[in-house]
Amino acid sequence: MSDHAIGIDVGGTGIKGALVDVITGELLSERFKYSTPPDATPEDVVDAIRKIIADVGTAGDNLPLGVCVPSVVRHGVTKSAANISDVWIDFPAEEFLEKALGRNIVIVNDADAAGVAEAHYGVAKDVPGLVIVTTLGTGIGSAFVFDGELVPNSELGHLELDGADVETTTSRLAAERDQLDFPAWAIRLQRFYSHVVRIFSPDLIVVGGGVSKQAEKFLPLIDIDTPILPATLRNNAGILGVAYLAATTRD
Ligand code: BGC
Repeated sequence: MSDHAIGIDVGGTGIKGALVDVITGELLSERFKYSTPPDATPEDVVDAIRKIIADVGTAGDNLPLGVCVPSVVRHGVTKSAANISDVWIDFPAEEFLEKALGRNIVIVNDADAAGVAEAHYGVAKDVPGLVIVTTLGTGIGSAFVFDGELVPNSELGHLELDGADVETTTSRLAAERDQLDFPAWAIRLQRFYSHVVRIFSPDLIVVGGGVSKQAEKFLPLIDIDTPILPATLRNNAGILGVAYLAATTRD
C-alpha cells in the first residue's frame, strides 16, 4: 500500500483535488479547485483532473489516483448522473479516464468516498458495525460502511417515501426551494432518518454536506433510536476517502 495518493472529487459545481497522506488523513498539498461546467462531460472532467495533477506537481508522479463522482459506479462503469452530463450514464468511466490520463485510477461514488473518509479519519473512526453516512446537499448521498469496509452504491436519496424519491423533498436544496426553516426541514429529516433506522438498524448515522456546519440547528430535533452525529471532514471528505481507496485497492 502506498502512503500517499491523489484524491479528486467531481461535484456539480467544482472539481477539487489534492495530494493526501492516507496514513494520517491529512492533505499534503493545497486543495486545487476548478469550476465544473454545466452538464460536465467526461472530457471536461479529464481537463480538470489534468490541471490538478499538474498543480500537485512531481510529488504526485506514479501515485495512486482516486476519482469520486455523483454517479452510481459499478465495476468502473458510471450508471447514473447527478448534475453532470447524461453521457455518464452507462459510461465506461474507469477505462476512459485511465486511457486519457495514462495511469490506473479508482473511481467510486462521491458519497461513498465521503463515507470511507469519515470511517477512517473522521467521526466514525473505529466505530464497529454499520455506519450510514448521508450527505445533504443538492441531492442526498449515502454510504454504508460495515466494520470499516464500504458496501458501495447504497443511494438512500432515491429511497421512495410518500410517493417520491426522498431527496426531492428532503435534500438541503429541497428545503431551500420550499423555504423551510430548520424546524420545518427537521420534520422531513425525521421521516427519512426514522425510516432508515427501521430498515437498516445502523449503529451510527453521520450527517454530512455543507449544512452539517449548522448541525446544532437541526440534528437535536431529530428523535431516533440511534446516535446521529455531524460529519467532521466537511469539504475534504470526498478527496480523502477516494485517495484512501486508491491507495488500498489493488487493480
Ligand atoms: C446521486 C448520488 C450522489 C448524491 C450526492 C444523488 O442525487 O444519485 O449518486 O451520491 O446525489 O451527490
